[in-house]
Amino acid sequence: MPLVPMRGLLDKAQEGHYAVGAFNCNNMEIIQAIITAATAENAPVIVQASQGAIKYAGLEYITAMTKIAAQNTHVPVVLHIDHGTSFEQVMRCIREGFTSVMIDGSKLPLEENIALTKRVLDVARACGVSVEAELGKIGGTEDDITVSEKEAMYTDPEEAIYFAEQTGVDALAIAIGTAHGQYKGEPKLDFDRLAEIQKRVNVPIVLHGSSGVPDDAIRQAIALGVSKINIDTNIREAFMAGLKGALAKNPKEIDPRKVLGPAKEAMVEVIREKIRLFGSSGKA
Ligand code: G3H
Ligand code: 13P
Ligand code: ZN
Repeated sequence: MPLVPMRGLLDKAQEGHYAVGAFNCNNMEIIQAIITAATAENAPVIVQASQGAIKYAGLEYITAMTKIAAQNTHVPVVLHIDHGTSFEQVMRCIREGFTSVMIDGSKLPLEENIALTKRVLDVARACGVSVEAELGKIGGTEDDITVSEKEAMYTDPEEAIYFAEQTGVDALAIAIGTAHGQYKGEPKLDFDRLAEIQKRVNVPIVLHGSSGVPDDAIRQAIALGVSKINIDTNIREAFMAGLKGALAKNPKEIDPRKVLGPAKEAMVEVIREKIRLFGSSGKA
């Protein structure tokens, strides 16, 4: 089916107490793995592209490949830009056919983040495109945005209420202790903060940096209202493990398909596991 906007899927997820997986893509194999996994699980899915992905693969390639993949499955697929950095960039994505955009103004002072988000919303609404914003700073490396773990700041519930009221945004990414990339120790999530935000903010909540978060913590986050969960690092790990495994078996291999095939299979497995963990299996 054609690509769909994100908001409807997140509203259904909120009602049904599950979360929709948002998986980062960088090339054809990853897009195929995401769609194969979602189709096998009969699950709605979000394919997302970061700054790095756009630089690497090109916006047009990512859009074209995802549109074709979506057309060839019965499950709803959203194409979303992850951590969009400027008004101009998210506009380019909308023009290209993205059905959802993240405008990450989390580095800006609150009022500037609100103003930027509203500016994006004005156009996105007219185009039927959903908008995610970020409040608080998620640790780790976010594409062009580098936030040291030290500086990482959790989302203030009062600010979240004000932000949601002022903007009417479709989804809100919050900082409650997760970080992008591989964790050095076990992440500790601030569930009290999440509960407080969820109780008072009537907007679907997004968890970034979800690779490496223990399954129980993910289940608890969903029970407390998280309805979109971002996964990138676990897909990279699976890709490379599949690739290295195939190369180790046949170090003289010269056909890229013989190593990319196993890499894809490894990604499909991980993505299917995540979809089941998020409870979105069977919700297409
Ligand atoms: O938000 C962070 C993602 O993992 C994207 O990282 O810029 O290396 O693609 P990347
Ligand atoms: P991980 O790489 O930690 O899974 O984070 C992904 C993410 O939040 C993308 O925005
Ligand atoms: Zn992120």
